[in-house]
Amino acid sequence: MANRIAHIAILVSNLDEAVKLYEDLFGTRLDMSKTVSEQGVKAAILSLADGAKLELLEPLPGSNMARMLEKRGEGLHHIAFEVDNVDKELDRLSEKGVELIDKKSRPGVEGMVAFIHPKSIRGVLTELCQED
Ligand code: CO
Repeated sequence: MANRIAHIAILVSNLDEAVKLYEDLFGTRLDMSKTVSEQGVKAAILSLADGAKLELLEPLPGSNMARMLEKRGEGLHHIAFEVDNVDKELDRLSEKGVELIDKKSRPGVEGMVAFIHPKSIRGVLTELCQED
């Protein structure tokens, strides 16, 4: 079961510009940014005073994410639920017949993550994550 929404992720073409835009328009704070080559992105985590987070993702050249950006343009990419144990949740969801993208957790932008196929969740790419 999920504890809370960990973040909402947005695909962007230019990370620095997008960080500034959200800061300027909504007063978000930049918590950290880093390159996650396994996922083919440069990522920035933005937060609001209540702890809500946005994850901005700029694809690295030649990545799957870059192809997605080309095809679909910028916009919402996924939502992430925080759970206590990603691998346990994957097993539980798999037993329910949910289609998983990741059969096991892997390192994400923050902590261990796994993705669930959008076709099992009303068209929304969904991430499970757990804190380190
Ligand atoms: Co995410």
